Order: sequence, then structure tokens, then C-alpha cells
Amino acid sequence: MSERLEDIAVQMVAGGRGLLAADESTSTIKKRFDTINLESTETSRRDYREMLFRSDEAMKKYISGVILFEETLFQKAADGTPFVDIIRAAGAIPGIKVDTGAKPMAKYPAETITEGLDGLGERLARYYEAGARFAKWRGVIAISSILPTRGSVRANAQALARYAALCQEAGIVPIVEPECLMDGKPGDHNIDRCAEVTESTLRIVFEELAEARVNLEGMILKPNMVIDGKNARKALVAEVAERTVKVLKATVPPAVPGIAFLSGGQTTEEATAHLSAINASGDLPWFVTFSYGRALQDSALRAWNGKQENVAAGQREFTHRAEMNSLAAKGSWKKDLEKAA
Ligand code: 13P
Repeated sequence: MSERLEDIAVQMVAGGRGLLAADESTSTIKKRFDTINLESTETSRRDYREMLFRSDEAMKKYISGVILFEETLFQKAADGTPFVDIIRAAGAIPGIKVDTGAKPMAKYPAETITEGLDGLGERLARYYEAGARFAKWRGVIAISSILPTRGSVRANAQALARYAALCQEAGIVPIVEPECLMDGKPGDHNIDRCAEVTESTLRIVFEELAEARVNLEGMILKPNMVIDGKNARKALVAEVAERTVKVLKATVPPAVPGIAFLSGGQTTEEATAHLSAINASGDLPWFVTFSYGRALQDSALRAWNGKQENVAAGQREFTHRAEMNSLAAKGSWKKDLEKAA
């Protein structure tokens, strides 16, 4: 396997494969497990993630890489095999979430700044040693009639750019994720407001990436789609696709090899339908695929329900979503395929 950043980046997004975001922090995975009344322990987290990573068909055919939380990068399956080895054996690339979370930003009420730059260079060296070849950092941009502020967008974009430069020096492909929130508060903004905020955010992010001397060919962008807020949903699939493509074409240089969307609170089927429509909309200068957390995992988590006897059922659900999203990454998903399954 090539170790060039440019080659790793293409592998992450090409061929109708995409990323499994399984990098929920300890507090986020607890929230997910609460929905199935399962206690979050190191063992239950291991068992859940082992179910996903041992979904052979999904991992081999549809998943190019897995974003891990630090605990999981160094964790072993029940039989003692390191998770990194299981992921690699399936032909997928292990990756690592390296930010330490979005924290309230001083002097900027209701906005956050993502932390984790201090000591990041040394941490990246350890993660590389452990097998990680890409990383993720999520900046969070609030949307309302008055937010975001320029100051908050600028600070988050600078942090993303500093992170990306450090990753590239460590031989790790940075996933640059500026998420303009669909499911924040109040969440009643419409698609026009989302388009405006996403476009200006991406412009500032690419300015900062240039200032930081980041090689665009050795990174992946993980943006939100252009969509109504969660309490104002009404745009049709075709409109989300058209508006999203328009904003991305206006802001993302073609030197970037790939765009891998977050799902951000869309239902599983919406996230698939939107991705497929985006890819079906014509010639795009980048590979466009998925880097979904909830939209790949929700049905698998429910089918598994924390029980060993449901592992096969959970894996079937995960494989189905991975296959549907792989079709969407080629623009060839159809609703009937969901019913057939
Ligand atoms: P969702 O697809 O659930 O939004 O998660 C993707 C992710 O990695 C957010 O940082």
C-alpha cells in the first residue's frame, strides 16, 4: 500500500467506497447506548465496534476506512486481535479522531471552538505508529439568524488548518470537517441560510488551509450538505442536491481529491438519497462519498440491541446501509432497493 498522502486520500474516497465514522467519544457513545438501555463500558464499546469491524462483506466491499476514537485505535477484539489488524485485513484504512472536542468559545456566547492542538504533533506520531493513516478534526459552526460570527468561523478555520498541516507532516491525511449544524438550536433556519453560512465558512476554511500551506491533494473535506435545519425540513431531495453541489463548486478547489459528507442528523434513508442525487447530478471534479456515523450505524445498533445473539442481525443491517451508501456514492441508489431488502 502506498504511503503517499495523495494516494491514501484517493483510496479513502474512490470506487464507490466511503468512511465509517465510528469515532464517537466516550460521552457520545454513552448517549447512543442509552437509546438501547445498554451501559457503556470498555467491554460493551468493544463488542459493539467488533460487530461492525467484523462485518466482512461491508468492510471489504463498501468501506474504505474507519474513523476511530483513541480508545478503539489501541483496543483489541475479544480474541485478542487488534482492531487495527481486523480493519486492515478487510482492506480498509484505520483513521483517528484527534480533536478533543468543541468547547464554549470565550467571549462568543452560543458558539464553540474545537480544541486539541497542544501536543498534537507528538500524538500524531503515536497514532501513525499504531497504524492510523488519516485523521479527523471537527469544527462546529452554529447557524441561526445571527450566528455564526466571523470571529468564531475564523478561529475554527485556523484550528482546522493548523491541524491539517500537522497531520501532513506526520504522514497522515487530514479530514477537514467544518460542520455547519443542521441539528443545533434553534434549528429552524431554512436551506437558503444554510447555503449562505456553508459557502462563507468553506471560503474561510480554504483561505486558512492555503495560509497554513496545506497540500490540497493530500486532504479530504468532510462538509455538511446544504439542507434545512432539523426543525424546518422541507426541501426536496433534488433541491438539497442542487444547492449542495452549487456551494461546493463555488468553494472547493478541484485539487481536493474527495468530499465525504457527514450525515448530521438526517435519517438514514435521507442521507443516502441525498448523496445519490448529488452524485447523479453530473460531472463533479472530486470523488463524492459518505463519512457517516449515525446514518450508517443507527439501524445496526438497534438490531444488535447489546446482545451477543443479535450480532449477525446487526451486521446485516450495517451491511445493508453500507451497500446502499456505496450505490449512492456512484449515483445509482434507488428507493426500491430499500424495500427489496
Ligand atoms: P454523523 O454522520 O452522525 O453526523 O457523524 C459523522 C461525524 O463523524 C461527525 O463528526
